[in-house]
Amino acid sequence: MTPAEEAARRRTFAIISHPDAGKTTLTEKFLLYGGALGGTGAGAVKAREGRRSATSDWMELEQKRGISITSTVLQFPYRGHTVNLLDTPGHRDFSEDTYRVLAAADAAVMVLDAAKGIEPQTLKLFEVCRTRGLPLLTFINKWDRPGRDALELIDEVERLIGMQPTPVTWPVGIAGDFRGVVDRRSGDFVRFTRVARGATEAPEEVVDPERAAVEEGAAWGQADEELALLGAVGADFDEEAFLAGLVTPTFFGSALTNFGVRLLLDAVIDLAPSPTPRLDVEGTPRPLDAPLSGFVFKVQANLDPSHRDRIAYLRVCSGRFERGTVVTHGRTGKPFATKYAHTVFGRERETVEEAFPGDVVGLVNATDVRVGDSLYLDEPVEFPGIPSFAPEHFAVARVRDTGRFKQFRRGIAQLDEEGVVQVLRHPDQGDQAPVLAAVGPMQFEVAVHRLENEFGAPVELSPTNYTVARRTDAPSALALRGMRGVTVLERADGTLLALFESPYWLDRVVDDQPDLLLAPLVGAGLAG
Ligand code: G4P
Repeated sequence: MTPAEEAARRRTFAIISHPDAGKTTLTEKFLLYGGALGGTGAGAVKAREGRRSATSDWMELEQKRGISITSTVLQFPYRGHTVNLLDTPGHRDFSEDTYRVLAAADAAVMVLDAAKGIEPQTLKLFEVCRTRGLPLLTFINKWDRPGRDALELIDEVERLIGMQPTPVTWPVGIAGDFRGVVDRRSGDFVRFTRVARGATEAPEEVVDPERAAVEEGAAWGQADEELALLGAVGADFDEEAFLAGLVTPTFFGSALTNFGVRLLLDAVIDLAPSPTPRLDVEGTPRPLDAPLSGFVFKVQANLDPSHRDRIAYLRVCSGRFERGTVVTHGRTGKPFATKYAHTVFGRERETVEEAFPGDVVGLVNATDVRVGDSLYLDEPVEFPGIPSFAPEHFAVARVRDTGRFKQFRRGIAQLDEEGVVQVLRHPDQGDQAPVLAAVGPMQFEVAVHRLENEFGAPVELSPTNYTVARRTDAPSALALRGMRGVTVLERADGTLLALFESPYWLDRVVDDQPDLLLAPLVGAGLAG
């Protein structure tokens, strides 16, 4: 098969949610339906995570906090397709990692808790998907237990997100009394049966409306009325609007009992797009059948203390990846040998021999490779960098023991390259007291932990009063440096950032001196 034909069989997506909505459970159930859990059955994902935490010092922090910091890439076959599920970090703190993973995905599944609806992180994630025009499916989870009214939830998504939910399935039975769903495309009522601990697929039975009315009574009557209402407002699936990220096909279910999981996974295959030719920096599409190319969306060092190395995750955009091929590293123009290529599931690695557009390959020993870098074979290509999120938290880092300054400097540079935090330097202070900038404060915890445990450089972090960053240039920096409540720092890529103590202060400066360059950072500049 050609790379384009292989690409057509692929679906590369991420599951996103506010913590506790059920992302891990749903991931596990997708694997169950994909037949990827082998003999271990459901429960394996969590069990494996537990084991990993116990054996790795990098996971120590993860274990302490009971959160997942590292992302995983899972690949499994389903209905003749290859599904690539990019896992996003599950912590409460929104971090740049999530954003980068979404840059490598062709679609996303948003999981909502039926009792909670839209939660703070859900809002942020929806926003990211919308700004990227990423097609989004919504799964309203936990319908097996008491929750809110289905119409009310749909209404809330539309009101808060501004993206129209188009229910593909509709629940029969209120939250807590879940009988099954009506597939609005066919009108079929799909009735589910519970199995013990949700350990195997939930048996499904298609029941015709007359029988459903008799057997489900009032629950059917209510669903029937709601469906008539949905039909009247025209909340039907519209492929074009979905692919443009304007509407979100919505599904009801329960990851715990497996109700509705198959219908959702089927929708990933049937509705989510397969990889399409990626646009380069000039906006020219790289054909799927062009020679190998891809971009790095994530770099991780020392994932496992027994392999002191650095893995760059490459999203393949065109061509056939074959292990051992020597590709060109776009930013440096140097050759890069892909002798050690893996699929990575947490710490467990399997060597990958070949990969196609949509697949993710973990390249080991990727010393010089950074987030956003392009790799290619034969025909050069440069894909757009991955935009970094505007940091909102800033802290000054100082090494506790000046005798460890060398280690500190090396560690800071490494964390900067990986994008664990952004590192900003003052021209007078340089590496003595760099300012670490983050989207979420947990990025600081990870940085401090790694500087101490991995680089042997314990640090002291002092919070600053800065809360807003803007991109500026040298002439403006000159004027800004003389002002109170403002500082100008430089990022490793040369970008000058002006930090302000409050948005109010920033507004004052903009009003007083409209000629200064103070550009918003979202979507600007490159990560790493
Ligand atoms: P997350 O990755 O989004 O953070 O959520 P996770 O899957 O870990 O689920 C959070 C909690 O919600 C878990 O309970 C999980 O069992 C439960 N849950 C997930 N999906 C459903 C569902 O469809 N119905 C119901 N009733 N519960 C669901 P926990 O008690 O925190 O953990 P555990 O001890 O069950 O593993």
